[in-house]
Amino acid sequence: MTDIYSRLVNKGPGRDVAKKLGLPQPAVLRRYEPGQPLINGPVLIEGSSAGADELAAELLTWDVDVRRHAVPREKLGGIVLVLDSLASPVDLEKPVLTVASSLRDLAPNGRVVTVSLTPDGGSPAAAAARQGVDGLLRSLAKELRAGATGNGILLADGVGTTAPTALGALRFFLSGRSAYVDGQFVRVGSTSGKLPADDEKPLAGKVAVVTGAARGIGAAIARTLHRDGATVVAVDIPAAGDHLAAVANDIRGTALQLDISRDDAGPRIIEHAVGRHGRLDILVHNAGITRDKLLVNMDHGRWSSVIGVNIAAQLRINEALLASEHFRSAPRIVSLASTSGIAGNRGQTNYAASKGGVIGMVRATAPLLAEHGGSINAVAPGFIETEMTARMPFATREIARRLNSLQQGGRPQDVAEAIAFLASDSAGGISGEVLRVCGQQLVGA
Ligand code: NAI
Repeated sequence: MTDIYSRLVNKGPGRDVAKKLGLPQPAVLRRYEPGQPLINGPVLIEGSSAGADELAAELLTWDVDVRRHAVPREKLGGIVLVLDSLASPVDLEKPVLTVASSLRDLAPNGRVVTVSLTPDGGSPAAAAARQGVDGLLRSLAKELRAGATGNGILLADGVGTTAPTALGALRFFLSGRSAYVDGQFVRVGSTSGKLPADDEKPLAGKVAVVTGAARGIGAAIARTLHRDGATVVAVDIPAAGDHLAAVANDIRGTALQLDISRDDAGPRIIEHAVGRHGRLDILVHNAGITRDKLLVNMDHGRWSSVIGVNIAAQLRINEALLASEHFRSAPRIVSLASTSGIAGNRGQTNYAASKGGVIGMVRATAPLLAEHGGSINAVAPGFIETEMTARMPFATREIARRLNSLQQGGRPQDVAEAIAFLASDSAGGISGEVLRVCGQQLVGA
């Protein structure tokens, strides 16, 4: 599970050799830790629209040094490029070329964030400009070095640059919580949501259920939600009972031994959360399995078990929660998809069908949760250093690990941070979306 190569080329003689030979030198990513400043260095806000001015005024109330013009050779923690008033693609040139030279001054682990309008509206020229931001940002992210990332915030009609979730997403992208999110957009579809009273405990007072919490990504999610203030119910199969109890005890939560593919899984989850903790606010569908085989050799067992656990169980549990009066106060669901479900993966037709299914499920469930001020989203991890990926053959693993803009695998913690953000009220305006945590994987979609 450790990336020995990354450690070798980041210090001592290994670093010099790698430099001489032109080998990849993955940066040490600045990951979030409680107490850490939001960002290391001043943030330049580029853009001359009213939305840019309002955003700059808002950032001044945060603990951030804001610049409206670049100061030559001053190291920058981040650049926010506000492009919310584009009428045509020619309007891109001035703001984009104005920040271009500042990219040289971006500190290691720096951040570039675009704020623009969703491309599904406006005249053909405006839509071309808005869609142009997509290509621009994704290319720029591939040019950044030293752990720096580029991500974008898309504002739907009627959502301003200082809407609660626009600000929540900006904080997420500027911070170390998004260390392994690169080249991605989040779409803020509404003005719902609110920023937390305490940035270090955004989930204070919430009760969260995490499935598949005995190990891997699920255990990291449970620990992260607890760190952020939630009371956590850790769910896993009875066979994983010892590990499950260890995780639950560690985070002062409770353990529920349950196979999520059972018909009564939904009611059992509600009964446990409400019975033991008095409420249920957040459900994270993390439990998942792989049974890889080329389609030509696929059989009933492999196909049905993967569909059964990875998507059919989630649909059944959601149905129970949606029908329950205990899941009505700004409820949040976050589900684990996978980049395999977006780009496809050889040997994973069953898995990719289930994970593609998760994406369709969150899109169609979003309006149902909106009735209760709730949201549902998916997180699609790329190559994450877990027991599952440690079992891959060495060469395949080494290639998969490097083929992204950050030239390294992500950690379970990186996935957990994205989930904690989407489970918080500061992301309340994002629903029905998929956020990839993949370091901007270079192959596939
Ligand atoms: P893992 O195999 O290490 O852990 C999965 C957990 O789910 C285990 O504790 C297992 O006992 C539990 N589980 C399985 N079936 C269950 C059932 N029927 N009921 C209750 N619990 C059950 O997996 P990992 O790597 O931590 O993955 C977690 C999620 O992230 C999965 O949905 C996986 O598909 C997804 N994912 C993982 C990636 C990676 O690189 N590791 C990449 C993309 C997605």
